[in-house]
Amino acid sequence: MTMSSSNSKIIAIDGPAASGKGTLARALADALDFAYMDTGALYRAVGFEVLFAGGNPESESDALHGCNILSQKLNSDDTILSNPDLRNDKIGNAASKVAAIQSVRDALLDIQRNFAKNPAIGKAGAILDGRDIGTVVCPRASLKLYITANMEIRAKRRMKELQSKGFGVTYKAVLEDMRVRDARDKGRKAAPLMPSGDAIVIDTSDLSQGQMLEKALEYAKKAFS
Ligand code: DC
Repeated sequence: MTMSSSNSKIIAIDGPAASGKGTLARALADALDFAYMDTGALYRAVGFEVLFAGGNPESESDALHGCNILSQKLNSDDTILSNPDLRNDKIGNAASKVAAIQSVRDALLDIQRNFAKNPAIGKAGAILDGRDIGTVVCPRASLKLYITANMEIRAKRRMKELQSKGFGVTYKAVLEDMRVRDARDKGRKAAPLMPSGDAIVIDTSDLSQGQMLEKALEYAKKAFS
């Protein structure tokens, strides 16, 4: 595991859908007063733009067009990544498709690296969560966590999350969607989802949110001491 190997205070958190990485990343950012970026929202926003334009998320030209629109919008509206419409599974699937295209990943790289290097004023460091933060975006992060949990538990968590937001979904559909998305995210050639060799792997299947945070804070303390 990498501990204090660079001067920048960057925490990379990767893992599959609904592993708990987003909840953990937010709680950790609050506890440490770090800036936080949900990099999945970038891919979701590209997927959203492609679908909105009636395009195909597997088409490189449609996806790159979506990236261009997103870049323009990000210049004028920094709330765009918190759009609740990005959170449904249709957009999640489109995101996973555009994310398999290398040129899309390249187009989104600088946004992520700039955020990591220049967290908001007054913040002590940056936390980014996604699929390739420890392997590609911030390979020199001071601390890398890979958050996972068994698929049934992740599907239940995702179902509850979607239902709480008013989306009518069934467990079976969410589980199937998760299987397909995991296989695509892990099997793609471009920056496949996998733990970086120096990441600390945390299985959250039997952990509460409080226990997750406690563990992560211990690792952060060691990383930045
Ligand atoms: O974390 P999420 O479910 O919001 O991510 C949506 C999709 O975006 C996910 O299926 C894969 C892709 N993604 C990625 O390829 N790399 C990232 N760093 C973040 C997300």
